Amino acid sequence: MDNINKNKTGKIAVFDSGIGGLTVLEHLVREMPNYDFDYFGDVARAPYGDRSVETIIEFTEQSIRFLFEEGAEIVILACNTSSAVALKYLQNKFLSTPKFKNKKILGIIRPTAEFAVENTNAKSLGVIGTAATIKSGACKKELLKIDKDLSVLSVPCPLLAHLVEEGLEDTEIAINACKMYMSKFDNTLIDTLILSCTHYPFLKNVIRSVTGQDVNILEQGPIVAIKTIDYLDRNRDIELRLSKKSKIRLFTSDQPERLRKLGSKYFTGDLTNIRKVGLSDGGRFVLVNKCR
Ligand code: DGL
Repeated sequence: MDNINKNKTGKIAVFDSGIGGLTVLEHLVREMPNYDFDYFGDVARAPYGDRSVETIIEFTEQSIRFLFEEGAEIVILACNTSSAVALKYLQNKFLSTPKFKNKKILGIIRPTAEFAVENTNAKSLGVIGTAATIKSGACKKELLKIDKDLSVLSVPCPLLAHLVEEGLEDTEIAINACKMYMSKFDNTLIDTLILSCTHYPFLKNVIRSVTGQDVNILEQGPIVAIKTIDYLDRNRDIELRLSKKSKIRLFTSDQPERLRKLGSKYFTGDLTNIRKVGLSDGGRFVLVNKCR
């Protein structure tokens, strides 16, 4: 395995357990076409949503370290599961490491909550996510911090990320799974449904067919893009450190072909060159080979 630390600086990195973060990268690239982005999907270990807090923290930390060492200035955790259970702990940990103290780790739950509150009329919201995300209560807490009068019903949907990782989003199984989970909202009139999992936009049409047209379904990609632009407007020192050559690099911990095939159902950018990384004995991700 070659080490690929090249001391490059200035990228915005997007991390997810698997292919879900591509639904965020798509909108970041669309709204910020000049910037350089790195993407890492930990496909070998996805999904994270049914794992323990300790394991999610460990996997997320290894992934962030890899992205920083590859030159990211900012890592966006485009994984609600990681944002929900690992964000604060890892922000503090990396901040206290001299090598990384000026780097930023951004979660996606707070910006989603802000946007949802700005856009609900009835103040009655539904949240769906992985078991770990919903169990953490992170999304509900952020919503209520902004407006304590909101009514929020959160429903874990543990099967859905698996279905997307298996490429089964347009099947009877997916429709039945969505019907089963959405039935938990039958006695609650929500006007907004937050997809608090970046895998779920792959299932948006199926979810829409179950909820009907009256519910505003919020997916996070467009929200994160708007909020990232706003963040960089407010943090000019960081913005000035970002490189702008419109370059996108993609990394996966397993099966580049799979990331390419499944990811292309949503991501419109070039997925031909996906690099594979693996864990070294010291628990660090290093480059295994380069695909095409
Ligand atoms: N994309 C991840 C998220 O937003 C979910 C998938 C997983 O369980 O790893 O939570």
